[in-house]
Amino acid sequence: MSSFESLIRAVPDFPKPGVVFRDITPLLADASAFARCVDAMAEPWRDAQVQAVCGVESRGFIFAAAIAQKLGAGFVPLRKPGKLPPPVMHADYQLEYGTDRLEARVDTLRQRERVLLVDDVLATGGTLGAARNLLGQLGADLVGASVVIELLALQGRALWPDSVPLHALLHY
Ligand code: PRP
Ligand code: ADE
Repeated sequence: MSSFESLIRAVPDFPKPGVVFRDITPLLADASAFARCVDAMAEPWRDAQVQAVCGVESRGFIFAAAIAQKLGAGFVPLRKPGKLPPPVMHADYQLEYGTDRLEARVDTLRQRERVLLVDDVLATGGTLGAARNLLGQLGADLVGASVVIELLALQGRALWPDSVPLHALLHY
């Protein structure tokens, strides 16, 4: 049985010099490892009465949809600009390698709906912070967040409130 770590490829200087890109595609291609990864990400939230799992486009979708199925919850996409039909709300953020915006449909969640936020990587924390901002605008009750990989050197967790649990499967 392959470890998750052995199935995550480190690619130096991608997508720009100085960035070590953590490539999850070998993990996704391994049926057993992918299933175990989804199980491990869902496990901490089994009793959290999650009603919706919000995934961040695009790699976050892969894990969020699978976790939503495990938890018996709906899936709600937080998308890059211009992909969702209006009306949408948005939040802007900085990336390790650029800037971007997340959008969500205004009618996508009920007030106080219990939401788990999911992405593949926590790097600088900008993306997860923008997603949290967006869910706040939508009136969601954020139960927690789950990522596959936390890049410790980038200190993204520092932008995340201590009051909301943030679970990472792997740390680099
Ligand atoms: C990557 C990754 C996270 C984000 C983390 O997304 O999937 O969403 O960066 O970085 P941060 O913590 O510094 O914000 P990217 O925008 O590269 O999009 P992709 O999923 O479409 O590849
Ligand atoms: N998203 C932001 N930084 C990343 C990295 N170093 N590897 C993979 N995904 C990322």
